[in-house]
Amino acid sequence: MSRVGILAVLIISACGAQEAPLIRANTILGDAITQPLTETAGDTIRGEQLFVSRNEGHCILCHQVDGLDAEFQGDVGPDLTLVGDRLSAGQLRLRIADYQLVQPGALMPSYYRIHDLHQVGEAYSGESVLSAQQVEDIVAYLVERRASGDDA
Ligand code: HEC
Repeated sequence: MSRVGILAVLIISACGAQEAPLIRANTILGDAITQPLTETAGDTIRGEQLFVSRNEGHCILCHQVDGLDAEFQGDVGPDLTLVGDRLSAGQLRLRIADYQLVQPGALMPSYYRIHDLHQVGEAYSGESVLSAQQVEDIVAYLVERRASGDDA
């Protein structure tokens, strides 16, 4: 199995039970999900914890953010230190939820897509890897990764 294949199995097998609806097509505009997935605003601190967590987000396995307190940061995916300068909250949301909608065949795992998943253990079929609130937390964290450092 390829390294990415192994990672995908790790990610899927480590996910907890979440209840999550499918992404509705009418929430996607261009390459963004413009509306938040939840009514509760994302929490930046929890987003950072999820990003670093090797049990939940796994983002750190493939991505790097300068200044983050984490021993090992991967480089399979792009450096996200200044991702807030490149992508809006809506664009981040779609990329975390389901990068396949941006670029079919992308290596980036789909964290909030519950249809068409391959290699899903039976216990997890019908569930997304991250909950809607966890996606919002990570979006809140990443949208603030900007050169200016503020959240303007
Ligand atoms: C298995 C490796 C892997 C993991 C784990 C992973 N990513 Fe990615 N990510 C990628 C790759 C590779 C890309 C580039 C697009 C592609 O080719 O798939 C990417 C692209 C992105 C982008 C777009 C960056 C840009 O500059 O356009 C964002 C945002 C992102 N990932 C966030 C996350 C978050 C948040 C997590 C954790 C919830 C995560 N990624 C987990 C591999 C990964």
